[in-house]
Amino acid sequence: MKVAWTVVVVMVALVTLTEGFPPRRILFGRCSPDEPVPRAVFMTCANRHGVCELRMGQSHNLRAIFRSQINSTDVNSYVRWNSFVELPLPEQRPDACDGEIQCPVIAGQLTDFTYSLHIKNFWLRNEYPVIWSLTDNETDEPIICFKFKINIV
Ligand SMILES: *[C@@H]1O[C@H](CO)[C@@H](O)[C@H](O)[C@H]1NC(C)=O
Ligand SMILES: *[C@@H]1O[C@H](CO)[C@@H](O)[C@H](O)[C@H]1NC(C)=O
Repeated sequence: MKVAWTVVVVMVALVTLTEGFPPRRILFGRCSPDEPVPRAVFMTCANRHGVCELRMGQSHNLRAIFRSQINSTDVNSYVRWNSFVELPLPEQRPDACDGEIQCPVIAGQLTDFTYSLHIKNFWLRNEYPVIWSLTDNETDEPIICFKFKINIV
């Protein structure tokens, strides 16, 4: 009986760990007329509809699917809070070729950018507009740029 109970507890723990939040498509806007937007952006939100809710202390995955217009061997990722002044999100990993994207990025090919965003505990619970861009690190040319909102809860 005790063994069976332990098995149930372990299984529930495993399901919670591996399941997390399912990814869903999120809405985004264009940054500027010159910067391409991705085809689609998915995020593992804590809610099913509306502005994506992210939980403090947790990691949420973002996935952007796009066709680049340029070739790039060195892609820079930059995410910032679109406040009165732009504030970079803390401790982000700028080198997208280090695991977030398959490099080199080839023009015209369907490409996946996946990023695990950890929400630090110091955020105030609020809705934040953010801007995310991928650029070629050598030429500074935009690859994609998109704006969306997150709700930290
Ligand atoms: C990208 O690189 C390929 C060869 O590696 C080349 O054929 C193509 O013209 C390049 N495209 C652009 C947009 O630079
Ligand atoms: C971008 O290039 C600079 C110098 O050219 C380099 O120091 C930096 O590490 C590069 N960043 C990425 C994300 O590759």
